[in-house]
Order: sequence, then C-alpha cells, then structure tokens
Amino acid sequence: MIPSSTWTTLKDRAEAVHDRPILDLMDEDRAQDFAVEALGMLFDYSKTNIDAETRETLIGLCATADLDARREAMFTGKRINETEGRAVLHSALRNLDGKRILIEGNDVMPRVLGTLARMEGFARSVREGNYRGQGGPITDVVNIGIGGSDLGPAMAAQALVPFHDGPRTHFVSNVDGAHIADVLAPLDPTTTLVIVASKTFTTIETMTNAQTAKDWMAEQVRDPAAQFAALSSAADKTWEFGISETRVFGFEDWVGGRYSMWGPIGLSLMIAIGPQRFREFLRGAEAMDQHFRQAEPLANMPVMLALIGIWHNQGCGYATRAVLPYEQRLARLPAYLQQLEMESNGKRVSMDGDDLPVDSGPVVWGEPGTNGQHAFYQLIHQGTRVVPCEFMVGKHGHEESLSHQHRLLVANCLAQSEALLRGRSLDEARKSVADKFEGSELERQARHRVFPGNRPSTTLLYDSLTPEVLGQIVALYEHRVFVEGVLLGINSFDQWGVELGKELAKALEPVLAGDQSTDGKDASTARLVGWLMA
Ligand code: F6P
Repeated sequence: MIPSSTWTTLKDRAEAVHDRPILDLMDEDRAQDFAVEALGMLFDYSKTNIDAETRETLIGLCATADLDARREAMFTGKRINETEGRAVLHSALRNLDGKRILIEGNDVMPRVLGTLARMEGFARSVREGNYRGQGGPITDVVNIGIGGSDLGPAMAAQALVPFHDGPRTHFVSNVDGAHIADVLAPLDPTTTLVIVASKTFTTIETMTNAQTAKDWMAEQVRDPAAQFAALSSAADKTWEFGISETRVFGFEDWVGGRYSMWGPIGLSLMIAIGPQRFREFLRGAEAMDQHFRQAEPLANMPVMLALIGIWHNQGCGYATRAVLPYEQRLARLPAYLQQLEMESNGKRVSMDGDDLPVDSGPVVWGEPGTNGQHAFYQLIHQGTRVVPCEFMVGKHGHEESLSHQHRLLVANCLAQSEALLRGRSLDEARKSVADKFEGSELERQARHRVFPGNRPSTTLLYDSLTPEVLGQIVALYEHRVFVEGVLLGINSFDQWGVELGKELAKALEPVLAGDQSTDGKDASTARLVGWLMA
C-alpha cells in the first residue's frame, strides 16, 4: 500500500511543475524517450508534463505497491479479488497455447479450451447454415445482455465490421422496452438466434428482455427455446429457461463481467467474424499479456499508460480523462472503457476497508474524432478545467478508395494534440484579428481567441484496426486499470457500488404497480412516485 505521505509528495511535485510549459521539455530526444513502442503500436506520452525525475518517482510507486508480485498473483490464479474470494483469470481465456494455469492445484485450461472449441463448433454451424431456425439458416443474431455482457461484444462487433461475414448481429441491453422493440421490429423470428448473455442469469434487465424475445418468437416459432443460446455460469437457471445444454456456454467465477468478452460472452462476435478471426482477436490480447508480464516498466505500455493516468488524476488532480479514438468504428470504446475503468477503480476504500488516502479512479468519457471536435472540444481547449486526452488513430483505414479521408482524419487527430500543447498566445490572437478590430475592441476580441495550451495528451498509433490490434488495445486498457488499481491499493474486480440501486429498484417496482405504498420513502421519491401514478 502506498502511504499517504508518498501521495502528498506526488501532489507537491505536480503543483510545483503545473505551470511549466511542456514545450520547454521538448528537446530532440523527448519524442523518442517519452514513448513506448511494442507489438506494432506506438504510445506517445511526450506531450505530458512528465519529466525524467517524475517518471522515476512514478515507477518507484510500482515497487512500493509491489506491482510485480500482484501481477504474477493475477496471472497465476491467486484469489486477488479478495472481497469475493475469487481468482482473476480473464487472461486464461486467451491463453491459446494452453500452458497450465492452476487454481489451487487444478489446471483451468482444459475447460477453457474445451469451451472455446464448443463455441467454435456452434459458431461454424450457425454460419454454415447447419444450425437453422424454423424458417431456414440464421440471418440475424440478437445478443441480450447488459454491462459486461453487452458492452464488450457490442463495441468489438462494431469495431470489426470490415471482418463480418456471418449473420447480422444486434445488441439489446436496456430494460427500456424501446430498445428491444426497435431491434426486433425488422427481424424475422423464424431465422433469428437469440443469445442470452448473463453470467448470473438473474440480471433483471436481461431476464426481462429475454422473456420478451421469447414471447416475440413464440408468435411464429413452434419451439422458441430451440432458437435460444445462453452464455452463463448458472446452468440450473438456463435449464429452467428452457435452453438446451448443447447451446449453453459457461464460464467460471474468475471471469469478471467487464473482462468477459474473450470467452463465451464473445459468441455473438465470433459468429459475426468467424472463429479464425476471433482467435486473432484473442492472440492480440495474449501478446499484450506477455508484453505486460515481461517488459521493464519503462518499456511496458500498460504500466506507462497507467502511470500517466496516476500522474494526471492522483498527482495533478484532473478529475476526468477523455478517450478520443479517431476511428468511427470505435464509437463504443468510450462506453466500454467507462465500465472497465469506472466499475473497476471507482472505489473509496482500500482492499483492507480503510478510506483511500487519495482520489479513486477518474471519470472516463469520450467520443470518436472528428465528431467530438464539433461538440465538446471547445471546453477541452478553452475551459477552465484541464482534461487529459487520450488520442488514438490507425495508420491505415479499411476504405482504400477513401484514403484521402483517412489522411484528413489523421491530420485532425495530430492537429488536436498539437493545438492542446501549443495553444495560442494573446499576441498571436491579436494578430489574427488585427485587420478586423482596433483599440479596446481588438483586445476584447483577442482574449476570446486565446488558447492557454500546455494541456496534456497522449497518442496511441497502430497500423489498422484488425481483430488482433483490437485485442491488443483492449488488453492494454485492462492492464492499465489493473496497475492503477494496484497503486491505489483497491480491489479492481468487485462492484458493490451497483448493488444498492438494484435493490431499491426491485422494491420500487411494486410501488409503481400500485401494490405497495410509498411509506418509508423520502419525501422527494414519494412525490415523484405520486406524480407518475396520478
Ligand atoms: O451491474 C453490474 C454487473 O454485475 C456488471 O458487473 C456486469 O457486467 C453486469 O452487471 C451484467 O451481469 P450479468 O452478466 O450477470 O447479467
């Protein structure tokens, strides 16, 4: 555990340098030195206010927090999710070589690889038309899940559209009936496969939507359950729902929901892109796992990404960070990372139950560029708060005939980080409007056109968004979250903070149905209920 005095030292350091121009640090070696190149990707953090001494301090935090030992504990199946008594082994799902991973002496790999083979067999039979609906080969797959049982496959399915050669895939998550109604409306139930993705098979949103889908299918399909598959650890509940065990793909309690798309939760993606490409996706993540385990901190992409995060959030006090993929197909990446980062590291007590001596993980948000530029970048450039930005862009797009558009996309991405770094001085601003205004009006107009600059950003470059590269990027962020969690001394793998709302919603449902009174509710909630029921 990092002592509070060390956090204070880090904050003091951040305070001491907060006005220092990053541009002053930009000697000819900096772009080379303040970057990590690995697995065909380049992570540049030279546009941050980190100098060599600060970096040493940050790397020192890893030793203080015993990162090496914690990391090995994760990869080797120790029960590091201490509040739930579970191991954390999503990396086993992409351990394609099948090297033994033991949890208390039992190798988990035979089961992992067995399930992968079953998924591949099922995906192939759907794609090749051997598994059929009542009306013929499957044309559409609807994944019903929420949180980790939705965000990962939904994000990845969109990211990998150029690789889709299977049935169309759709995702339903919200309990708002509008979601499922809109998704199902254009579909033919006789050629639709519904996948119910829920680790627990109790999540109210998912089970409600699953029943709605079953009723929809029952209107035209004699045996609706025959067109359902389940991705779940709860075999008894999938059985009760009527789904044959041949189409149930289970996983163990050591796979957290937000870390689960590498296994059965990825089935909809596998059906869309095919088992071979799904394996490439796993291979990318596996390569990042090995890099994370082996590389020295300075050359370790997840470690350095995490240390930049710690510097900005816990050191400099920047409460949010924006993730800005210049890749339209990564439109759902910010939402995916919101769960990954905020459900993992949004915790106010340490592993021991003590109050954290420092802020927990930051608010994560974002949108693809260039769209965000025409929406919220105004605040990023000229607002009073600093938002560290995490840009990412590929060297190549998939649309060869539109390479001029890709060039424009890349130019915008690089221009934004350059603008954040350089800013525009009052003098430059005056010059830009000197032909239009004069005197005090010139001064007033110029001040509106000043960009303070010196705003930190990082940039991740990759070749093009293939399944393998996507696997690398997602695993990079998973491990970043892990490192930040270890430094904060928290358990990144539980999520007790989602429970209270769930319990209260369950209790409010009969109140809204008119079966119970609002007795015991606070005055505001009672009034809102009253208004809705009037
Ligand atoms: O609400 C939190 C959560 O437990 C997430 O962690 C999880 O990804 C999601 O709900 C869905 O859970 P399940 O897969 O059990 O339906």
